[in-house]
Amino acid sequence: MIEPLLDIHGLRAGYRRSVVLQRVDLAVQEGQVVALLGRNGVGKTTLVHAIMGLVQPSAGSIRFGGQELSGRTPDQISRGGIALVPQGRRIFSRLSVEENLRLAHRSRDGRHDLDSVYELLPRLYERRRHRGRQLSGGEQQMLAIGRALLANARLVLFDEPSEGLAPKAVDQIAGLIAGLREHGLSALLVEQNLHVALSLADAVTVMTKGEIVYRATADVFRADPETARAFLGVG
Ligand SMILES: Nc1ncnc2c1ncn2[C@@H]1O[C@H](COP(=O)(O)OP(=O)(O)OP(=O)(O)O)[C@@H](O)[C@H]1O
Ligand SMILES: [Mg+2]
Repeated sequence: MIEPLLDIHGLRAGYRRSVVLQRVDLAVQEGQVVALLGRNGVGKTTLVHAIMGLVQPSAGSIRFGGQELSGRTPDQISRGGIALVPQGRRIFSRLSVEENLRLAHRSRDGRHDLDSVYELLPRLYERRRHRGRQLSGGEQQMLAIGRALLANARLVLFDEPSEGLAPKAVDQIAGLIAGLREHGLSALLVEQNLHVALSLADAVTVMTKGEIVYRATADVFRADPETARAFLGVG
């Protein structure tokens, strides 16, 4: 069997006063979208930050493309091919759309450049001279995704891309990610919107209190609503 693109084993990580991730095991195969579900505060963002090198693991391993990431800086990790679409978008609110995108465009080779991102997201082209803070939530999320695409990464980490968006914008963002998936996107998708997660994911994992307690293909998970209810408190 080929090694997964992202392969996490026994990961322990947290903050000065608290261990958040106790022992996380998680894998993403090349070309696969893996959804990570879990209630508020269980450690989803902490896991995403550990992968990006923003939180230092105290035990375990994170392998990407066959190489150990622990100990590398966030900059090395992003140059190595992982892009983050952060929770809350984190775009530069005082810079224009185009300035936000240009700042992100470091890698000259790869599928995406400014033109291809504008082609994929015509709304960003229309709004290219607007400042970040003038955008709607959905447009800000498009910008955050456009920025990640410009990194021409092999793996994209989406941290709650639908959070706080109006239903129409949620559909747009889900449609955008679905389109990327058809072009072979490999991603870890943190999502509290079960419908969005299930419409996009090949596999589903559920985290409770710093551990992955459930993993299944999206088809199996869909056919097992009891599990969704038990772990997530939703039906
Ligand atoms: N910088 C930090 N310093 C200390 N504790 C933190 C820090 N960031 C998060 N925590 C704590 O770590 C735990 C996990 O937080 P985390 O943000 O990873 O959860 P989450 O699953 O992403 O939640 P949400 O669904 O609200 O985004 C929480 O108890 C949180 O209060
Ligand atoms: Mg979070």
